[in-house]
Amino acid sequence: MRADLLVRGISQLVTAEGAEPKRGAAMRELKVGEHAALAIVGGNFVWVGPERDWSGDAGETIDAGGCAVVPGLVDPHTHAVWAGDRLADFEARLNGVTYEAILATGGGIRSTIRATAAATEEQLVALALPRITALVRSGATTIEVKSGYGSTAEAELRMLRAIHALAAQAPAWIVPTLLIHVPPKEAAEREAYVRIVCEEMIPRAAREKLAQAVDVFVERGAWSVAEAERMLTAARAHGLRTKLHTEQFHRVGGLELGVKVGALSVDHLEACSAEQVAMLAASSTIATILPGVTLHLGLPAAPGRKLIDAGAAVAIGTDLNPGSSPLYSMQMALALAVRLNGLTAQEALIAGTANAAAALGLRDAGRIEPGLPADFAVLHGADWRELVYTLGANPVRDVWIGGQRVEATA
Ligand code: NIG
Ligand code: FE
Repeated sequence: MRADLLVRGISQLVTAEGAEPKRGAAMRELKVGEHAALAIVGGNFVWVGPERDWSGDAGETIDAGGCAVVPGLVDPHTHAVWAGDRLADFEARLNGVTYEAILATGGGIRSTIRATAAATEEQLVALALPRITALVRSGATTIEVKSGYGSTAEAELRMLRAIHALAAQAPAWIVPTLLIHVPPKEAAEREAYVRIVCEEMIPRAAREKLAQAVDVFVERGAWSVAEAERMLTAARAHGLRTKLHTEQFHRVGGLELGVKVGALSVDHLEACSAEQVAMLAASSTIATILPGVTLHLGLPAAPGRKLIDAGAAVAIGTDLNPGSSPLYSMQMALALAVRLNGLTAQEALIAGTANAAAALGLRDAGRIEPGLPADFAVLHGADWRELVYTLGANPVRDVWIGGQRVEATA
């Protein structure tokens, strides 16, 4: 075999195997190959195995220097495009005002909607690029980015266009999602807005291929289950996948709706019950946990351990956003999940790679396997567990996407 590039000298090559999401005990079945090498042709892996078994030749050979290699991390939940900041909100929270109270009085997400409306599309892209670069430096190679800081069809579609422009410039694979975030303040305007979402935003996002999924924030103070069901049904009718932000502050039943509509994932879950854990475990919907929110808002942690023990497929995301999770590191999200949500190191790696890809409906990301895009991270150390152990320094040495070393990480 002739490869464009051979990476040898890998102490441990770690990956999940197979495209199906891993659930329950299978989340601990990580393959760890020692003294490994990998070969790349045209941006894809073509061979992976023990270095001594490689018998081909390669245009270029790189020595990983006895360091560990993991699949490129997949961040399945970010709000990386926003303008303005939430520093005043943060200070208010430090003085005892809650996130929900700030939102209810017109601040929080609504203040980010105002700041985002005041920025040009180019400014939004320029603000988001360094955030994506930070996530890539932390090991992420595929990153979902949501809209959601708009309060009109035009504003949401403009955000989606900014996400597309970002995708063209960003050193990562970007997956765009249309997020229907907070309703109009006036109760009387909600019905008209739901119609605009179903009859204008979703059809246009689908037709113009601006989003692959629609996400709805179901919560007291946000959308009801009934409103979300109409919007997610419209999404499915237009061939888009579905997701929900739900059971974040209160047990509102968005989880049950997600299971009913066959959502790719239900995200947050800090407030979910034992019955809901069992229901999710019996479904094909991925449970996406967001430990940055637990840390930043001081919320209870989502029951990651219980979900896996019940047989669910769990994914981890950063939820990078200015209000509930200013977390610019997917590596740190994994490191928090093992501490706050009770995951093992193996479970966290699978939750941040193969299962996170499944939460985006992707079968070709988050694994090191012949035929898949050559997205991987080389660590500084020989033991891959440093990825979930390290706090406050970056255990990721460099990141490769589609067989190319990302310059910002080299
Ligand atoms: O995932 N909870 C709702 N939405 C986001 C927060 C967005 C914001 O505060 O700006 C979340 O936590
Ligand atoms: Fe979110």
